[in-house]
Amino acid sequence: MENPSLTGGTKNERKIEMICDNIAVSKEGRLVFAGCDTVDLAHKYGTPLYLLDENKIREKCRIYKEAFKKHFGEGSKPLYASKANCFKRIYEIMTEEDMGIDVVSSGEIYTALKAGYDISKAYFHSNNKTDEDISYAIENGIGYFVADNIEEVKAVDREAAKRGIRQKLLLRLSPGIDPHTYEAISTGEVDSKFGTAIETGQAEEITLLTLDMPNVELVGFHCHIGSQVFAEDVFERAAVVMLEFIADMKKKHDYTALQLDLGGGYGVRYTESDPVLDIDQKVGEVAAAVKEACNRLGIEMPEIHMEPGRGIIADAGMTLYTVGTVKKITGYKNYVSIDGGMPDNPRYALYKSSYTCLAANKMNEEADFKCSVVGRCCESGDIIQENVLLPGSMRRGDIVSVCTTGAYNYSMASNYNRLPRPPIVMLRNGESYVTVKRESLEDLCRNDI
Ligand code: LLP
Repeated sequence: MENPSLTGGTKNERKIEMICDNIAVSKEGRLVFAGCDTVDLAHKYGTPLYLLDENKIREKCRIYKEAFKKHFGEGSKPLYASKANCFKRIYEIMTEEDMGIDVVSSGEIYTALKAGYDISKAYFHSNNKTDEDISYAIENGIGYFVADNIEEVKAVDREAAKRGIRQKLLLRLSPGIDPHTYEAISTGEVDSKFGTAIETGQAEEITLLTLDMPNVELVGFHCHIGSQVFAEDVFERAAVVMLEFIADMKKKHDYTALQLDLGGGYGVRYTESDPVLDIDQKVGEVAAAVKEACNRLGIEMPEIHMEPGRGIIADAGMTLYTVGTVKKITGYKNYVSIDGGMPDNPRYALYKSSYTCLAANKMNEEADFKCSVVGRCCESGDIIQENVLLPGSMRRGDIVSVCTTGAYNYSMASNYNRLPRPPIVMLRNGESYVTVKRESLEDLCRNDI
C-alpha cells in the first residue's frame, strides 16, 4: 500500500494535495517542492537546508492584498509580520509586492533598511522597546510606532521632541478575547503582558495621556489576539470590542481613530487534519462585522490593517535533513535521527507543534514504520515530531523533509550545541538560488575574543 495521503496529479508527478499545492511526487518517487526535486537540492546545497517557495510567498501576499482591497477598500492593507521570517531578500519581495511590514526590533529595522525597504511604511511593535531602539527607529524614519504602554509613549515623545518631529503612533490594547490557541502564543487577554487593557479603564487613560503629548500623533489602535488561530469569529469579536472603544473615545473625547490594526494570527496547515482557511472569505467576514459595528455605532470605518506572518510564509517553507542513525528499541520505540533539530526548528520543543515529515527519496514506499524524528542535540526534548510514519527501509543517508517550516523556524533558530544555522535556498519557477548562506564554523567564533 502506498502512502494514503498521495493522490493523482500530472503524468510525471503526483500532488500531495492534502497539505499544500506546492508539494508533489515525481514518478521516480522523489519529493518535489515548488517544482524542484528535493533530493537533488539536498545534494547540491547540503543539509540541513531551509527551502522557500518565492512564488508561494508572492501568491499569499496577493491573496491578502486583494482580499483587503475587495472587502475594506483602498487604504486598508495587510502588513507582513517580519518576525515570522526575517532576512534581506524577504523585504525586497515585500517591496515588489507593495506590502506593508511590521518590525519588532532594531535588528529587523536594520535588515529592512539594508534591503532598501521604505521604512516609512513600517509599524514598529514590541512590548519593551529600549531607548536605543526608539532612537534608532526615529533616526531612520520609521513610519509608525505601535506603543504597548505609557512608559513607551513618553519615551517616544521625548525622542521625537529632541529631533523636532511629530511621531505617528498607534496604541496596542488588549481587547480581552481568548483565541483558543496554545497559551504561549495567546496574547489578547486582559492579563496578557502585551498591550493596555480596555476592560480596566487603562486603555482610556493611556489614550488621553497620549493625546496630550505634543510630539506624538495618535493615529489609531492595535490589537493582536494570538497566533495559529482557526476558531470561528474571534477576529470579528476583537474588531467589535475595538470599534466600541473607538466609538467611546469619539463620543467622550471627540477623538477620531484613523487606523485599526487587528494583528496577525490566521492558522495554516501543518498536517492534513488542520483546516484550510479561505482568506478571501475570512477577511470578508471580518469586513462585514466591522461595517456592521461602524453603522451601529455611528462612526466612520477606520483604515483596517492585519499582520499575517505565518499566513504569508509558512507553507512556502520546507526543511530537508539527512538521516544519521535509525534506532529500533525492541518492544519500545523507534528513532530516526536527523542532522538538525531544535536549533533550526525549536517549535516542537516549545509548543509540541505538529508537522508533516516525509521520506523525500522514498515517496513510493509504504510508510508504516512508526518513529520519532529527533535532532542531534544533547537533549531528550530535541524532537522534531513524534509518531511519524516513514518507510521501514529508512537508513543513514536518506533525506527527511519537514513541511510548512517557512514561519518561525529560521527566525527562531539558534546555535545551540554550536551548530551553524542552515542556509535558505529560494525556489522560483523551478530554479533555486541561495538567499541566506550557511553559517560556517568560523562564523560561530566571529564574536569570540
Ligand atoms: N502581529 C503581532 C503583534 C504579533 O505578535 C504576531 C505574532 C503577528 C502579528 C504574526 O502572527 P502570525 O500571523 O504569524 O500568526 N513563535 C510562535 C509564534 C509567535 C507569534 C508571535 N506574534 C510559533 O512558532 O508558533
